[in-house]
Amino acid sequence: MHLQSLATGAAALVEDGKGILAADETAGTLTKRFEQLKITSTPETRRDYRELLFTAPGASKFISGAIMYDETIHQLATSGKKLVDALCDQGIIPGIKVDTGAKPLAGFQEETITEGLDGLRERLQRYREIGARFAKWRAVIRIGDHLPSEHCINANAHALGRYAALCQEQDIVPIVEPEVLMDGAHTIERCNTVTGRMLQAVFNELYQQGVSLEGMLLKPNMVVPGNNCPRKASVTEVAETTLECLLRHVPAAVPGIVFLSGGQSDVVATAHLDAINKLARSKPWKISFSYGRALQDMALATWLGNNQNCNAAQQAYLNRAKCNAAASVGKYTEALEKEGSRGIAGTHRSEREDD
Ligand code: 13P
Repeated sequence: MHLQSLATGAAALVEDGKGILAADETAGTLTKRFEQLKITSTPETRRDYRELLFTAPGASKFISGAIMYDETIHQLATSGKKLVDALCDQGIIPGIKVDTGAKPLAGFQEETITEGLDGLRERLQRYREIGARFAKWRAVIRIGDHLPSEHCINANAHALGRYAALCQEQDIVPIVEPEVLMDGAHTIERCNTVTGRMLQAVFNELYQQGVSLEGMLLKPNMVVPGNNCPRKASVTEVAETTLECLLRHVPAAVPGIVFLSGGQSDVVATAHLDAINKLARSKPWKISFSYGRALQDMALATWLGNNQNCNAAQQAYLNRAKCNAAASVGKYTEALEKEGSRGIAGTHRSEREDD
C-alpha cells in the first residue's frame, strides 16, 4: 500500500483553516436544484456552474479539495482546459464521487444500500490517471420507529470498508461518508445513539479490511435532532453532543473529520462547525467541512443560470468558504458573517435526491 502518500494526501485535505467543496451532485440531483430556480439543466449549464465554483479567484485560501461527479471530471472549461486542470491550477486537489447511489435494500423496505463496488478498481485506476487524488462514497442511514436495522448498518459499513480498501490500493485517499439523515421527528439523543452505532460498525469494518486510518478522512453528519422534532437543540448542545459521539467512536489515528451539511441552513452549518472547534481545544483529529448545499446554496441562487452573474455568484461562494474556513479553526464571528453577503438563514434547505 501507499501508506506515506495516503497519509500526506489526507493531511493536505485538512490543512489548517481549509475544507472541502462537495460539488459532486449527480446530473439528476443538480437538475432538480436547477429546476427549483428555473435554471435549464444541460451538460453545458452544469459545466458553467461547476466552472464558476472551481475558478473562483482565491478559493484555495479556504478550500483544499473539490469533489466532482463523473460528468464533471471529463468536462472541459470554456477556455478548452480540462476542469480538473482548472482546479489543479488553483491549488485545489481534485476528488471524485465513486459510489453509484443509494438503492433499495432488498428485503428491508425504506432502507438503502449504496452501490458501486462492481468494476470499482478499474474506475479508480482511470480516475487516478485523469487526476483524482481522493474519492468519496456516501452511505445513507434513515432513522425511523424501527430503523435503522442492524443489517442496513452492517451492509453499508461493509461496503464502505471495501470501497476504502480499494481506494487505498490505488493510492487514492478515501473519504468515508456514513450519513445518518436528519429527516424525521427523532430527538438529538436518538441521532446520537444511531450515529454512534453506525460509526462503530464502520470502524470495525475498516479495521477488519486493513484500511489505513492515517490515510483516510471521515465525513459524518453532525448529531442534531430530526428536522421535525419538536425539541430544537441549541448550537452548544449540538456541538457538545457531536463531539461526545465522535470522541467515543472515531479512533485518534484518523487525521480529519470533515462534516457534511445534511440540509442545515448555511449559516447554521457554519455556526455548528465553529462551536465544535471552539469546544474541542485538544482533539485528536482536525475538524473541518466538506459541505455541498451549505457552501453552494447562495452561489446557485445568485448565479441563476445567467453567466453575467458569475462574479457575484463566485463572491457568494467565497464568502461562505471564508466563514467556514474560519469555523474550521474556531474563529468564526458575527462580524465575519456580516462582512460577506447575508447567508440563507432560517429553515431553507434543498433536498438530496438520488445520490
Ligand atoms: P451536503 O453538505 O449538501 O449534505 O452534501 C455533502 C455531501 O457530499 C453529501 O454526500
